[in-house]
Amino acid sequence: MAAKAKRTKGPTVAKAPTRASDRGSAPGFARATRTEALAKIFELAIESGEGIRHGVLGIPRYGKTHHLKEVNAEAVDRGVCDWVLVHDVKRPEPQYDGTLRENVADLLARPIANDESPVIVIHPSPTTIDRPDVESIAKIGLQLGRGGHPALVTVDELYHALTTAQHWAGPSYALILREGSSQRVSSAWSTQIPQQLPTEALDLCETVAVFHLAGRSAEYASARFALPRAVADHLCRLERGEFFLVTLDGCDGRIYGPA
Ligand SMILES: Nc1ncnc2c1ncn2[C@@H]1O[C@H](COP(=O)(O)OP(=O)(O)OP(=O)(O)O)[C@@H](O)[C@H]1O
Ligand SMILES: [Mg+2]
Repeated sequence: MAAKAKRTKGPTVAKAPTRASDRGSAPGFARATRTEALAKIFELAIESGEGIRHGVLGIPRYGKTHHLKEVNAEAVDRGVCDWVLVHDVKRPEPQYDGTLRENVADLLARPIANDESPVIVIHPSPTTIDRPDVESIAKIGLQLGRGGHPALVTVDELYHALTTAQHWAGPSYALILREGSSQRVSSAWSTQIPQQLPTEALDLCETVAVFHLAGRSAEYASARFALPRAVADHLCRLERGEFFLVTLDGCDGRIYGPA
């Protein structure tokens, strides 16, 4: 694969109010910006020189993909990764910006040129015969990391990596979650239904962004992360782009975003 292309522009992040009194919808919660969230998501990786393991939970249309796009950009800008591989198959059109390839065979046949984005978006065209699976992309991520090129493998909707609830379709993404960080292979993923994930996914993530959740998913996440009662009760009231952040220190009770 060709040498890493240079990014010239970071994600644009607007200033947000930082105090609960600045917004009326969530009295009692302190506020923080997306920039502050990204700093926390990458804190450990920067300190340790290793990768990130980041998960994103939330029902549709509340901002999971928007958030993952910024995580991708930040990983390159902060030098945590040379390459980002995005599994992006949910919609007929690509959701992520970057260098498009239809599947891993197409990526191997057409290596990334120096002037192309290091964010590689694997998205099939309607006529792609071999539709991309997470396993083949995760394997490339491991190969890059072990070869000295830190990579982030981002999976938009982690159910694409499963056969049925809680069962991985292949070993490689689970391996990245278990051991990839020390080999500088990072992981970031999203899901609408956290209770369907294999246990590694949530157990091994260092940071999880929890967007709007309701019903059983909210109950599951609240119990799983021992969220404070006020936070658990507010999950179903989060607005688009707002999230709580769970780190190895727990949840700080602040609402991050939308800006
Ligand atoms: N923080 C934000 N600021 C501005 N716009 C946002 C923000 N978050 C999300 N949006 C917009 O809201 C819409 C829904 O966001 P997004 O596609 O990221 O949601 P999602 O949770 O990934 O949904 P789905 O589960 O359907 O994939 C998009 O048009 C996105 O650009
Ligand atoms: Mg999405």
